[in-house]
Amino acid sequence: MAPLSQTGFRLFPAALGPEAQAALLAEVMARVARAPFYRPVTPGGKPMSVEMTNFGPLGWVTDARGYRYQPTHPQTGEPWPDIPQALLDLWGEVTEASAPPDACLVNLYGEAARMGLHQDKDEADFAYPVLSVSLGDTAVFRLGGVSRRDPTASVRLASGDVCVLAGPARLAHHGIDRVLAGSSRLIPGGGRINLTLRRAGPGPG
Ligand code: SIN
Ligand code: FE2
Repeated sequence: MAPLSQTGFRLFPAALGPEAQAALLAEVMARVARAPFYRPVTPGGKPMSVEMTNFGPLGWVTDARGYRYQPTHPQTGEPWPDIPQALLDLWGEVTEASAPPDACLVNLYGEAARMGLHQDKDEADFAYPVLSVSLGDTAVFRLGGVSRRDPTASVRLASGDVCVLAGPARLAHHGIDRVLAGSSRLIPGGGRINLTLRRAGPGPG
């Protein structure tokens, strides 16, 4: 396998310092009060081990009807809260995208949560990258290739780490093997929050 740096995967360790992490967590929790975390169900009917919510005009959801983006929270029926400005700024600094993100999926991992190997492919235009921000407990992230059978590598994502899946890595398989409980004190009660910024709809023009 080519070195990770040559695949379009970029990792920015500790891109957010402790103060920026705490400020972002506060922005996230203020929005979660209006758009609570809920446990989604796969199209096959299995509850996921992560809890989810979204920010932005569009949010990624899964239920018996399948995977899709929609403008409202499935439980409250309300529009998703706006994307925190700090995340929009980060997208501008770290990606070469010509348009802002219109979706921010927020995943909450408890001690036993994981996420199976998958591709992010419900978006309209894969020319736009996916940017991920990790808060709280360290995750063991698994990154493979475009084919499910490609070899995979394990990368630890700690609180404040930012990574980008762009170019050839945009459609790389990825998942979370496990979360290292107790590795961070950022989130009261422990756990991990991952925020992924995407452009779900087509770009402007
Ligand atoms: C995801 O693929 O949606 C989440 C990845 C992560 O939690 O780091
Ligand atoms: Fe993903």
